[in-house]
Amino acid sequence: MENLLDKITSLAKRRGFIFQSSEIYGGFGSCYDFGPLGVEMKNNIKKAWWDEMTKNHENIVGLDAAILMSPRVWEASGHLTAGFADELAECKFCHKRFKADEVKTRKCPDCGGELTQPRKFNLMMKTFVGPVEDEASVTYLRAETCQGIYMNYENVLNSMRLKIPFGIAQIGKAFRNEITPKDFIYRTREFEQMEMQWFCRPKEAKKFFDFWGKERLNWYLNLGIKKENLRIRDHKKEELPHYAKAGADIEYHFPFGWKEIEGIHNRGDWDLSNHGKASGKDLSYVDELHSSSPSLHSFFNEETKEKYIPYIVETSGGADRSFLVFLIDAYQEIKGGRTKTTKAAKEVEILLKLDKKIIPIKVAVLPLVRNKPELVKKAKEVYQLLKPHFTCQYDELGSIGRRYRRQDEIGTILALTIDFESLEQEDLTVRDRDTMEQERVKIKDLPTHITKLMCGV
Ligand code: GAP
Repeated sequence: MENLLDKITSLAKRRGFIFQSSEIYGGFGSCYDFGPLGVEMKNNIKKAWWDEMTKNHENIVGLDAAILMSPRVWEASGHLTAGFADELAECKFCHKRFKADEVKTRKCPDCGGELTQPRKFNLMMKTFVGPVEDEASVTYLRAETCQGIYMNYENVLNSMRLKIPFGIAQIGKAFRNEITPKDFIYRTREFEQMEMQWFCRPKEAKKFFDFWGKERLNWYLNLGIKKENLRIRDHKKEELPHYAKAGADIEYHFPFGWKEIEGIHNRGDWDLSNHGKASGKDLSYVDELHSSSPSLHSFFNEETKEKYIPYIVETSGGADRSFLVFLIDAYQEIKGGRTKTTKAAKEVEILLKLDKKIIPIKVAVLPLVRNKPELVKKAKEVYQLLKPHFTCQYDELGSIGRRYRRQDEIGTILALTIDFESLEQEDLTVRDRDTMEQERVKIKDLPTHITKLMCGV
């Protein structure tokens, strides 16, 4: 029987969410393209995250740093030398490689051949900059977006007149030469991260680590992910990445088990200290001492200063992994269908119960039938009226029941049907995805009516 991940993969392709990269050439290892609905939905996820960080929280500003950076960044960050590598065992017979912690015996899971002792394989993607491909022109595609934030820590601090604690948020592509990419878009070689780096006093890092873990868990819950499918799990010491003093994963209960969707790390002063040492630039911060006694300040009549390297607490999520989580969590199959009045009752109906903020198409505009020019004309007028304000889809193909189901399958929250009464009354029916209830609304009132439904105001 087809498992849930296969069903999601098939829906994603059928309905224009996600396609295999370079498909006509047989596909390109673990790279995916986001189709017309996919790009809308991914943009919505990123916007929800961006708004959460830069609008709903205080003291967080945005950044968009270059993907390519000086290779010295990656030397100092430890990504070239330290633990940024997978331990892999290779089959001596078929030469496939497996993560050491995922194979239980010394036998190849594919062909039964003998596996080698595990060896480290670095995950950085190498490239060359400029016309000569020699060692001097080597750099790397960034493996985590946050290094671009550390490179700009001082620029942002000074240009925005910030004071610690503050955060810098960034969304962008990252690349890792994953040896065992798998589970659709769960683990890919090119992916997008949504990272926020919180700069704080060392003694406050633990407090903020706990705070951000809870905040990030709530973000997923507020966007409709089921509570029973989410958890936060502290890292054991041996699981910690090379840069972290403490770490926790926000995990989701995927069809293939509980897996990380976002990492919360207390990176201590690892990054700013190492970049400070390697570049020769002092990245320490000078803080006013908060004396509990204001009279003491006036007594000395000068500000008391404290100098330190800020600690960093990061929240590091993946746009693609969240995308998969939203699809899986929203996916429902209704055996026999929800519509009991039509033939469709014999089929399995698919409903994608995505949150309103995430759905790719907000409104579908449907003429009741397509062979009545006056209905089609009116429906196209409605479509033109709404298109500048909401993502809309105009659909006239197939029976109205089939079109409702097509919209349910992509999560469209409202379906508007233009019928014969619409021509007389200048109104139409608005069908709600979840209740399937329909109400008549005047066409001229639609923009305000839909805004109210979408924003709950
Ligand atoms: N800056 C810290 C950092 O990069 P990470 O735990 O290695 O931490 C953070 O990655 C998040 O980035 C993961 O929780 C996941 O959402 C996403 N991510 C990492 N590697 C990925 C991959 N190969 N494919 C898709 N997403 C990935």
